[in-house]
Amino acid sequence: MKIAILPGDGIGPEIVAQAVKVLDALGESFEIETAPVGGAAYELHGHPLPDSTLNLAKQADAVLFGAVGDWKYDSLERSLRPEQAILGLRKNLNLFANLRPAILYPELAGASTLKPEVVSGLDLLIIRELTGDIYFGQPRGVRTCPDGPFTGEREGFDTMRYAETEVRRIAHVAFQAAQKRNRRLTSVDKANVLETFQFWKEIVIDVHREYPDVTLDHMYVDNAAMQLIRAPKKFDVIVTGNMFGDILSDAAAMLTGSIGMLPSASLDANNKGLYEPSHGSAPDLAGKDLANPLATILSAAMMLRFSLNKAEQADRIETAVKQVLAQGLRTADIHESGTVKLGTQAMGDAVVKALK
Ligand code: IPM
Ligand code: MG
Repeated sequence: MKIAILPGDGIGPEIVAQAVKVLDALGESFEIETAPVGGAAYELHGHPLPDSTLNLAKQADAVLFGAVGDWKYDSLERSLRPEQAILGLRKNLNLFANLRPAILYPELAGASTLKPEVVSGLDLLIIRELTGDIYFGQPRGVRTCPDGPFTGEREGFDTMRYAETEVRRIAHVAFQAAQKRNRRLTSVDKANVLETFQFWKEIVIDVHREYPDVTLDHMYVDNAAMQLIRAPKKFDVIVTGNMFGDILSDAAAMLTGSIGMLPSASLDANNKGLYEPSHGSAPDLAGKDLANPLATILSAAMMLRFSLNKAEQADRIETAVKQVLAQGLRTADIHESGTVKLGTQAMGDAVVKALK
């Protein structure tokens, strides 16, 4: 089995190195190949997603991705910005289903900015559609405004759109995920204002007929944002579009105390996937041995479970992470008094040790 490793920018290389260390310690014979992506690839090849990197990702059975982005590329034209690499990978590999679990480890209840009773025991799953919506909709651009009160001025515009197939396939993923959990699915939309999401809602209701054992409800995205902060434990599985999912998944991540703990999987129709921490490249932390590698290590566990058919090895990693937390070992982002503060590499070593 071949794993493509794309470390990327900022803290990407150091956190991915810890996950590779953990994979090595499993004693499996994975073939591992590394390629540059994002700003790192732009420096080397003049493009954030060079063909060689894209081809490696296509050939591999799974992709482990660090993070991309650095403020120093903010003035590049959009097509050369590091973020285009992850968007291009998602689109080219057809990774339409993004699974973002938000789990609060009991040991970290005090690390959340919310009251422990609001978040303790939290275990929700956000399923974000990842290859459609206003992120990819055409037309888009900057043009001369053709109509309305601002005719003749310059305007920026994007297009929100979802085809029926796109909504149906993500709805199926969501209902099936709910069946494996507590059988409750909340579809988040803005059907009160947007045509796209009125349509979304109708399709989700139609797909629901195939999953009578799952309870479905619908929530407007503004209310969902509020409920996530007010009573997050009421959710089981949330399914939503690309844009709303981007925003809600950051909010959900923070409920757990640190976005540094949360893995994610982006899957195609055959469970080939790209696995990445939910957090970004944090250029301010890069190279300081400060970043939390656990989200990336847990992403490697998701990779073993969903794409490489190694559920037992995935369990081993997740158990090792829990053990490390139970031992009171913490990186700076989740550190509290009475716990031991470790750097990125020492945290990776601690997980490797707990594996054995
Ligand atoms: C995410 C990120 C990306 C997104 C950026 C880096 C393009 O915020 O994975 O949530 O907007 O999808
Ligand atoms: Mg985001």
